Formats: sequence, C-alpha cells, structure tokens
Amino acid sequence: MAAPELAQTDPEGIEGVRMTWLNWPRSKVEASKCVIPIAASIQPIRPHVDLQILPYPPLRCKTCSAVLNPFCRVDFTALIWICPFCFQRNHFPQHYSSISQTNVPAELYPNFPSIEYSIPNYQNPQNYNPAVAPSPIYLFVLDTCMIEEELEFAKSALKRAIGMLPDNAMVGFISYGTQVQVHELGFSEMSKVYVFRGSKELSRDQVLEQLGLGVSGGRRAGPGIQKGGAGPSPTAGAGPNTGINRFLLPASECEYTLNSLLDELATDQWPVTPGNRALRCTGVALSVAAGLLGASTAGTGARIIALVGGPCTEGPGAIVSKDLSDPVRSHKDLDKDAAPFFKKAVHFFDELGKQLVSQGHVLDVFASALDQVGIAEMKVAIEKTGGLVVLAESFGHSVFKDSFKRIFEDGEQSLGLSFNGTLEINCSKDIKVQGIIGPCTSLEKKGPAVANTVIGQGNTTAWKMCGLDKNTCLTVFFDVSSSEKSDPAGSNPQLYIQFLTSYQSPDGQMRLRVTTVTRRWVDSTLGNEDLIQGFDQEVAAVVMARLASYKMEMEEGFDATRWLDRNLIRLCSKFGDYRKDDPASFTLNPCFSLFPQFMFNLRRSQFVQVFNNSPDETAYFRILLNRETISNAAVMIQPSLISYAFNSLPAPALLDVQSIAADRILLLDSYFSVVIFHGMTIAQWRNMGYQNQPEHQGFALLLQAPHDDAQLIIRDRFPVPRLVVCDQHGSQARFLLAKLNPSATYSNAHEMMNSGSDVIFTDDVSLQVFIDHLQRLAVQAS
Ligand SMILES: *[C@@H]1O[C@H](CO)[C@@H](O)[C@H](O)[C@H]1NC(C)=O
Ligand SMILES: *[C@@H]1O[C@H](CO)[C@@H](O)[C@H](O)[C@H]1NC(C)=O
Ligand SMILES: *[C@@H]1O[C@H](CO)[C@@H](O)[C@H](O)[C@H]1NC(C)=O
Ligand SMILES: [Zn+2]
Repeated sequence: MAAPELAQTDPEGIEGVRMTWLNWPRSKVEASKCVIPIAASIQPIRPHVDLQILPYPPLRCKTCSAVLNPFCRVDFTALIWICPFCFQRNHFPQHYSSISQTNVPAELYPNFPSIEYSIPNYQNPQNYNPAVAPSPIYLFVLDTCMIEEELEFAKSALKRAIGMLPDNAMVGFISYGTQVQVHELGFSEMSKVYVFRGSKELSRDQVLEQLGLGVSGGRRAGPGIQKGGAGPSPTAGAGPNTGINRFLLPASECEYTLNSLLDELATDQWPVTPGNRALRCTGVALSVAAGLLGASTAGTGARIIALVGGPCTEGPGAIVSKDLSDPVRSHKDLDKDAAPFFKKAVHFFDELGKQLVSQGHVLDVFASALDQVGIAEMKVAIEKTGGLVVLAESFGHSVFKDSFKRIFEDGEQSLGLSFNGTLEINCSKDIKVQGIIGPCTSLEKKGPAVANTVIGQGNTTAWKMCGLDKNTCLTVFFDVSSSEKSDPAGSNPQLYIQFLTSYQSPDGQMRLRVTTVTRRWVDSTLGNEDLIQGFDQEVAAVVMARLASYKMEMEEGFDATRWLDRNLIRLCSKFGDYRKDDPASFTLNPCFSLFPQFMFNLRRSQFVQVFNNSPDETAYFRILLNRETISNAAVMIQPSLISYAFNSLPAPALLDVQSIAADRILLLDSYFSVVIFHGMTIAQWRNMGYQNQPEHQGFALLLQAPHDDAQLIIRDRFPVPRLVVCDQHGSQARFLLAKLNPSATYSNAHEMMNSGSDVIFTDDVSLQVFIDHLQRLAVQAS
C-alpha cells in the first residue's frame, strides 16, 4: 500500500556514482568559492540489472593503463582507440578485428558506463575452475562473560548461522572470557583446546607457534592428527603439514562437532569478585583470531565474526578498569582527556587493523550489552577492513538476531558479501584525489593524481577494501589543480574519471568492475548557472555530514555547528538571489532549496549533538553514515515522515510537531529506528477493538498500512532497524518527538537575530527561526 510518491527512484543508476557538483569549476580558486567540496559518492559493486559481465580480460591503455571505455574515440577502419585520459592511440588486438560501427563490443556501449570483467584466477589462469575458487573463511569469536540467557541467545544465533553457510565455507571457532580458547574442530571424539592467557599481548608469530602452526612447529603433528576426513582444503592452501585444517574446516564437516561444542559451552567460569566487572580479554581474543587467519593464504576471503557482550577489561585493548565504580568513558571524559585507557586501546586496535589489512581479512563486531563494549576503540579496525558492525541491547533482540541472519542469507536478501577488494582511480589531468572517507585503507600508491592535502584515507590512488558488499559506499574528495593559466577554449570541455574495483565475489570469482564517468568543466567566472543546475543537494548534505563527523574526530576543539553554519551562510551568499542587506528579497534556486533544511536537521542530529549518546553509539552511527548509500545516509540526517489518515493516500509529512494529529498515524524512518506513532483517537479506537469489527474494515486497513510499509523498510536494511510502535502521549513517543522540528516552542528570535554573530543559533530553535536568521546573514555585505 505504498503511495506512488514513495516509489524508489534510482539516482545512482548503473554508474553507482553521485557527485556534489555535476559541472566542475576549472580552477582551485573557483572550486573553493563553491563552498561544498567536489566529491563523489561511489558504490563500487552496486548491483544493476543491465550490468554486463564479460568473460575476458580488459583492454588497457599502454601508457596510463586506463581501461577501454565508452568515452574512447575509436577509429574502426584503422582499429585504433584513443584513451580519453592521456590521449594515447592504442591498437585493438587481433581478436577485436571484427568490430565495426555496427558491431561494437560491450565495453564501448554508451549506456554501459559500468562493466564487469570476470577474471580467471590470477595465480593460475590456465587451470581456472570456478568450482575450486577459494571458499571464504568464517572465524567465529564468542565472548562467554555473559549471563546464561544472553549466552544462549548468542549460541543459537551461531548455530543457525553455521547451518546457513554453504557447505564449502571454512569455519573456525574461538571462545573467550578471561582467557582465550581456540577450539580444534577436526575430531569430534577427542576435541582439543588451545588456551591463551588474556593478559599478555601476542605477536602473530607467537600465536602461530603456540597453535603449532609456526615455522618450527608446522611439522609437529598434533595428537590424533591423522584421522581421515579433514584433508587439506583448497582455501587453507598452505599444504597438509601446516595443520591449519585442525582449526578451519568446511562447514559440512564440522557442523556436528561445533553444535555439540556449543551445547556444552558454559559462561566464563573465572570468578568475578563483587564490585568488579568480569575480566574480559577481547583484545587478545581478536589478535589470536587474526594470528590464526594469518596462517591462511593472504587475500583469501576471511572474516572474524566477533560476538561481544561487554567491555574489554583484561590485557591489551582494555577500555576500562575492572572496578565497577570506574564508569566506562563518556564523551565528556574524552573531551577532557580523562579517559586513561582510550588512546592505548585505539592504538592496539589500529595495529590489529593494519595486520588484518595486510592479510586481506575482515573484522565484524556484533556487540550486545547494556554497557559500552568499546566500539569507539575498535572502530578503526572495523572501518579499515570494511567490517560490519551491529550494536544491540541483547542477543535476543531482533536488531541483532535478524541482522546476523542477513549476513548468511542467500538470494535476493543477501548482502552480497565480497572480499579482497582493491579500488583504483584514474582521472583526467588537472584532477587530484585528496582521499576517501569510508570503509577502506590507503595503499599509499603514489601517482600524478595524488593531491597534497589529505582527507580521510589519502596519499594514494589505490585503496584496499578487505570486505565490501553491494551497499558499500565510499566518498572520494577531489581537488582541481589547474591554475588560471589553462586555456578553457583549447582543452577538452569534458573531464573523465575511471574507478576500477577488483574483488572476489560471494561465489569466489575474481571480478573487475570498471566504471568510467564523464562530467563537464565549466568556466564559473562567467556565471553560476551551470554550477547551480548541476548541484545535487542530497549528496552535498551527506558529504557535509561525513566531513563534519570526520573533522570532529580528527581536529581537536572542532566546532561542527559553527563550521556548518559558516559554510551554509557562504553557500547562500554565493548562490542565493537577493538585494544586498534586504533579507526579504532572498530566494534560493530549487536546486538548493532543500539544503538549508538538511543542515538544520544535521545540526540537531546524533552526528553533531554527540553528547546525547555514548562514544560507542557515536562510533556506530559514524561507521554507518560513512558506508551507507546516499539515500540511506540522508535518512539518518533527515528522517522521513509519512502520514496515514482516512480518505487519503499515505503522504509525506513535514518533519514537524504540527504533523501530529489525533486521527492520524505517522511512520518515521530515521534509519536506526522505524517508529509507528498512533494519534490519540486512533489509539483509543484500536484499544476498543474497532479494527476487529466487520463494519470498520477501513480502520483495520488504516492500522495495518504503516506496519506493511515499515516491514518493507526493515526488510531491505542492514543493520535491521529497531521497530518502535507507540501512541501519542505514551513514553515511547519520545522516539518520534526527538526528531521533529519544535515549531510550537517559542524562541526569542528577535533578540538572537540582532546579535550579529555568524552562528545561526546554538539552541534548539525551529526551522522557521533558523531560515529567517540564515537569510539575514546571507544578504549581509561580507
Ligand atoms: C587479492 O587481490 C589482489 C589485488 O587485486 C590480487 O593480486 C590477489 O591475487 C588477490 N588474492 C586472492 C587470494 O585472490
Ligand atoms: C592511472 O592509474 C595507473 C595505475 O594506478 C597509473 O600508473 C597512471 O599514471 C594513471 N593515469 C592517470 C592518467 O591518472
Ligand atoms: C603522505 O606521504 C608523504 C611521503 O610519502 C608523507 O611524508 C606524509 O606524511 C603522508 N601524509 C599522510 C597524511 O599520510
Ligand atoms: Zn591512457
């Protein structure tokens, strides 16, 4: 029953690329006058019905190695293509000799800016056989310092997950509490456990040595190692003597062992003295996991899937002392530099992240606790490896349960988890890349297109994405390097950018996705019209949110509200229409008109008002803001609100307390939660059971409609959002009210407007007051 207005559009299209500006200013100076940075949001492996998959390797330019694309000029008679990046003339090889105007290869189709190459196994192109493509490794790491009930929830989620894995997926299992236990899965009769102390930092070599996988230990067979069935697997790869197949086995071979092991697994038995937290060694457990994976072939798709039930208190990575009277750090503590564990723990997880990136492996964290567990400290390792993260209140809650299930699901609902990704960017001369915000790591590959200034993961034209999926999104920041001296008339009015993403698809195939985009250079000294028409305000709002969050993390004392206000005022001064010093004359082109409201909501959002949340929650929100698609990220900043009433179709409603009415139902989507809010009258009728009476069938349908629409939202989202169903004046109504513009509250607007500051407001004001003040400041002579 979704209204037609709600129909999904597809602004990313087959390209999977959206930019703040469609038309680019020619010079650095002009670019900085545009206020909003030139940035592209790219979804490197976005699925698309029209995507062509070619079974042969790409043709590359012999000078700059850019891949053949629809923007190349082609001379079909001479069989030559001209590279749009470096203008090199390249000959087509022999097997292209049959091409002609009327027989164009798919790489040159103008409506295929994205194309994918299925690449034979790099190591062994002759023997390529998709059937033996490396199967991904899932190494589960389970915290056992939990109450019985939580551990049972976690165990049943694990069992279900293992049952859903493809038979050839490799599985390993580590449990931990005060110590770490690495479980052998090879032998159901005589299962062996390797125990590691939780207090001591271990290098990868020490881990391998202790597991009997080290250089010297490799040939020492463990007890009972010769039992059949657990032969060397193609993934474990390193040969029969290394013995890694004692720990990592195909799901089909170890499901029974693992299930019985889980049945017997009890909560951590280490005594916890009253007034103390459990001694939990999450840091050591994760480094043992990383060490174990280090024995498999680098670049083999592998993920550590950690289920964490509380803060790390033991060994490296600890975020708080074991004394319960010391609270876990808050934003205030971080601000005052009063979080004694923080920097050390972040450093530890940063190193762990580097190790995982060098191995090409992913860290996923599923945290579930009433207290914080240390997502803020682990963020760096999760984000740099492209890992998934879900924060829930309980392992029994649908936010965890349903999200966890989604990872292992097949078919249409599948996340399409892929591995070993590398992104490379090629661009036209005069374009430089400053860096990327999002789930990736700089590979420090220098080249002519590397900018001097760095944003996020920079100093490179290549990035590693150990884990990526069909939603993964990255924000690339560009710089324009040409000076005024370049001659617009003589040079090409088009600019080109090529994104090359190689990765291992969920079915183990090596793929190369090539997306080539073109945009137009414009001479903005001649007027703003081209810039204005090419402004994408939704992308701009998301890019500003990502950049503000990044600066809040990186720059000490950064004042996000002030920075956003200043930029918004500058933007309106440059692109608004007005008479100087006459606020009433101010208007904004429709291409910009939604942007101020986005900024208004961003200022009030969890990304800027961080003090309303814990550092773990903030880290969680930021990881998702940075990795989600533009439309999802936009909803995080500015929730969508739909109103349901009798005698009308569901319709978008203003994000304002005025949208609340006794005879309406509202559906709020703020990404992390989906709220169904019943007006007072509706709630009363429902309580009286009208929906069950045949003569009130219309009411039953009205009640049901927002639930159906909520399910559509929930079905497509990872992590699964929290569903809140509430009534006007009920206690849960705050989930809606916190997101609405407080238009009904009175502010002393007049007084604030005369204060002449460059900050619009510091307090929670209504949108109208905000816009009035913005206009006043924008028209002022600077
Ligand atoms: C991982 O990706 C890199 C770069 O694309 C490639 O050279 C390597 O062969 C891949 N490794 C595996 C095991 O597929
Ligand atoms: C394109 O990328 C390759 C590999 O990263 C690099 O060697 C080359 O210089 C780049 N060319 C341009 C025009 O950016
Ligand atoms: C970029 O690379 C240069 C030299 O290769 C190095 O000196 C500099 O610190 C790097 N900058 C960042 C931000 O990583
Ligand atoms: Zn070239």
